[in-house]
Amino acid sequence: AKTREGKLQVELAALSYQRSRLVKAWSHLERQRGGMGKTGGPGETQKELDRRMIDDKIKAIKKDLEQVVRNRAVQRAARERVPFPVIALVGYTNAGKSTLFNTLTNEKVFAKDLLFATLDTTLRALTLPSGRNIILSDTVGFISHLPTELVAAFRATLEETVHADIILHVRDIASVSTDAECADVVETLNRMSIEQKTPIWEVWNKIDLLSDPSFVMAASKRQEIPAFPLSALTGHGTEPLLQVLDTYLSKNDIVQDITLSSTQGDALAWLYRHADILSREEENENIKLYVRISPAKQGQFNHLFLQQKEQVQS
Ligand code: GTP
Repeated sequence: AKTREGKLQVELAALSYQRSRLVKAWSHLERQRGGMGKTGGPGETQKELDRRMIDDKIKAIKKDLEQVVRNRAVQRAARERVPFPVIALVGYTNAGKSTLFNTLTNEKVFAKDLLFATLDTTLRALTLPSGRNIILSDTVGFISHLPTELVAAFRATLEETVHADIILHVRDIASVSTDAECADVVETLNRMSIEQKTPIWEVWNKIDLLSDPSFVMAASKRQEIPAFPLSALTGHGTEPLLQVLDTYLSKNDIVQDITLSSTQGDALAWLYRHADILSREEENENIKLYVRISPAKQGQFNHLFLQQKEQVQS
């Protein structure tokens, strides 16, 4: 946890834990005192004092976190002006999200056998086989029966997930409790306000640990929602995932003719960078293009080259 947000969350998680331990410790003492029947007394006062101190600290941290969330919203708004689809990795702690993130982006992110190893959302751009750019986000790992209070705290980290175009639920398919872990993650996702239409696909990770992966491979094909068996560690099985992502993201693309005049070099260069040029013909002073473009990029194109719009016949 390197960012300010990550540090705040670690502190908050530690405090919440401390608070629950405190309650347990004091109730244990009360049991020992036994038979007093009444609450109150010096013990009670000290307990209240300790708890209030922790509560005050928790309150202060939450306020700081709110500020971080506000800043993040501003950053997201800025990024939305250069719209790349966001693909969010979610999953039970230790499922292999960071490993998959590293394998797909060829980057080094802290991956370790550690609870909450990932406390910050890490974002990185990734180019799919078609040349389309996406942003991959690696998020905090979920744990069983995550207390509501912590779900709220992690919301900051999970904001990216709430706004994602596609959610990839990474599962450790070799874990003996893979189904229970899956149920926990689904429950946590249900408690977040994710848009109904956001697809949630499953990545069945760690197939390299299975002595016979054929059963899992067959089961993945019978799934109602897409499931991609793969090994984030070896990279085996990642290509089909990237291909399907590519196809899915291009399904809303618009295919159209755009005619530019030969003086519109900037518009032409822009299209080469942001759209798929399917064909190009020079005709007199004009360049006739047949392009595939996302609706967002089309909007951007119109906005950027609006002054020249009369010359653009589509
Ligand atoms: P949190 O940060 O706690 O949420 O964990 P995470 O989901 O990011 O898991 P991480 O990528 O840190 O991986 C956890 C452990 O599983 C590490 O020891 C990885 O090396 C291991 N691991 C991840 N993917 C695979 C895989 O495909 N095969 C095998 N054998 N091990 C894997």
